Amino acid sequence: MLREVTAVRYVTPLREGGSMPGLVEADDHRLYALKWSGAAQGRKALVAEVLAGRIGQALGLPVPELVRVDLDPVLARSEPEQQIQEQMRASGGVNVGLAFLSGAFNFDPLCFQVDPETAARVLWFDALIGNVDRSWRNPNLLVAAGRLHLIDHGASLIFHHHWAGAAGWIRRPYDAGDHALRRFAGDLAAVDAELAAQVTPELLAGAADAIPEEFLLDEPGFEHPRAVRDAYVAQLLARLAGPRDWLPVLPHDESEATA
Ligand SMILES: Nc1ncnc2c1ncn2[C@@H]1O[C@H](COP(=O)(O)OP(=O)(O)OP(=O)(O)O)[C@@H](O)[C@H]1O
Ligand SMILES: [Mg+2]
Repeated sequence: MLREVTAVRYVTPLREGGSMPGLVEADDHRLYALKWSGAAQGRKALVAEVLAGRIGQALGLPVPELVRVDLDPVLARSEPEQQIQEQMRASGGVNVGLAFLSGAFNFDPLCFQVDPETAARVLWFDALIGNVDRSWRNPNLLVAAGRLHLIDHGASLIFHHHWAGAAGWIRRPYDAGDHALRRFAGDLAAVDAELAAQVTPELLAGAADAIPEEFLLDEPGFEHPRAVRDAYVAQLLARLAGPRDWLPVLPHDESEATA
C-alpha cells in the first residue's frame, strides 16, 4: 500500500516534464511532484510509476517515496494556464506523488560521476522494466545534495498497453544504446546474478499491491483488479526466469569476453 495524503495547496507546474507534473503541498506539510491521473499519458503511466518505483525501492535503488495523493480539483483555480487547469480538473480523486527533492538538478553525465556498480544496477533495473526514458537526452535522474535519484518510470512496462501481446515482451531486448549511465556501468552479469535473486514473487507481489485499486478497475480482459496485479507479477517473473535476451551486452563486456 502507498501512504495516503491529501493535496492542500497547488504551488506550480514542473515545466520540464512532458506531462507537466505539479508541485503540491499535502496535508502532511510535505511537498510532492504530482503525476496527474487526468494527463494525456493516462492512468497506465501512473501504474508503471508505482509498480516500477516500488520494485526499484525494494532493490535499494534511490527512488523517492511514492504516495497516493487525493486531489480536490478545486485546487486548479490558482493555475492560470488553461491547458494545465484542464488536466488538473480531470484529475480529481487518486493521483501519484513523488517526494519532492528540493534543490535537485537534472543529472548531467559530463558533470557528475556515478560509480560502476550503481550505474550497472540502474541499467539492469531499466532493462528489467523496459524503461525507455533514461536516455542521456532525458535521463530522469536527479542529483540532490550530491546523491543520485531515479524518477519518472511512467514509460516502462509498456506491455500493459496491449495485454494480448504481452508474451512477446518477456524476452524483448532492452536497447541501452542511449542510456544515460551506459558509459559508467560496470559488470552487468554480476549485477544480474545478485539482483535477479532478489526479485522474488513476494517482492513483486508487494510492489503490485501498492498500485491503487482505482487504476486497475475495468481493465479489459480482466475480471478483477487482483487478476491485473497477478498478471504484472507473472509477466516480470517470466522475464526473470527466461534467457537474458533482454539484458544488454555493453561494449566493455564484449571486449573482456574476447580478450
Ligand atoms: N521528486 C521530484 N523532485 C524534484 N523535482 C522533480 C521531482 N519529480 C519531477 N521533478 C522535476 O519535474 C520534471 C518532470 O518530472 P517527470 O520526469 O516525472 O515528468 P514527465 O512529464 O513524465 O517527464 P518526461 O518529459 O520525461 O515525460 C523533472 O525533470 C524534474 O525536473
Ligand atoms: Mg521525465
